[in-house]
Amino acid sequence: MRIILGPASAQLGQRIAEHLKTDSVSVAFKSFPDGENYVRLESSVQDEDVAIVQTTSPPQDNRLVQLALMADAAKRNGAKKVTAVVPYLAYARQDKMFLQGEAISAEAVARMLKAAGIDRLITVNVHQEKVLSRFPFPAKNVSAIPLLAEYFVRKGHKNAFAVSPDKGAIYIAEEAGRILGGECGYLEKSRDRCTGQVSMEKKAFDVKGKTVIIFDDIISSGGTIVTAAKILRELGPKKVFVACVHPLLIGEAEKSILKAGVDEIVGTDSVMSSVSKVSVAPAISRELAG
Ligand code: R5P
Repeated sequence: MRIILGPASAQLGQRIAEHLKTDSVSVAFKSFPDGENYVRLESSVQDEDVAIVQTTSPPQDNRLVQLALMADAAKRNGAKKVTAVVPYLAYARQDKMFLQGEAISAEAVARMLKAAGIDRLITVNVHQEKVLSRFPFPAKNVSAIPLLAEYFVRKGHKNAFAVSPDKGAIYIAEEAGRILGGECGYLEKSRDRCTGQVSMEKKAFDVKGKTVIIFDDIISSGGTIVTAAKILRELGPKKVFVACVHPLLIGEAEKSILKAGVDEIVGTDSVMSSVSKVSVAPAISRELAG
């Protein structure tokens, strides 16, 4: 297998190639004055199975088009099978019609990728795994939560209390808890569908003097984590950490989270950012090696 280094994830792609001890394919890319994208694979993929590593965090539309163009280039240049490794899958959160008249964006994007030549997809901690079963090709979700929890164990935080900011994400806190060896719990979040405003119920966890780690899949505006951190800080913990798979960190998110009393934010290289301290390469490589 050859690893194609998508412009959005060249460093992660190289890490995956090193894990798998396989060759990588560099990609020349540019955008034209009118904003259109151009890509060219810089070595041969003739008769090869290839994996294109390309995250689709913002600017997501641009990165999705680059991914489609790389898939087309791979097929057109003789690749046998094209796997898209898309750690952060854009549009995955719109996985159903919440309001009459909406699109199911996740499915529309998957159909576009299929048309471009993608045969299989691997993603990381997609918002709702069940959406993958409606994609027009085999799609697999891998979890980076164990890698994040292991980071905290290495830093001496075994037995920390793992909490998810949302009841629906309790499975994430439980997954981390199995590695941390401490207790876990969840907060209950609701979000106004029109304004995006987050509200959360307070809970009386017994975390006084303990280390708490908030685990979530995505930090976007930071509103969810800020609200959760403020609630937890009132309970008198020794430290409050945040672990997230996809640190989008839009605008002032990082600053607001630290201001809310969080001691450290730890994210992965699914989305390269100032907090990407853990690599998802081992989890993706395991899945690719199959
Ligand atoms: C939503 O349910 C996700 O799990 C995240 O909690 C959410 O996307 C984070 O968004 P934000 O940082 O804008 O609150």
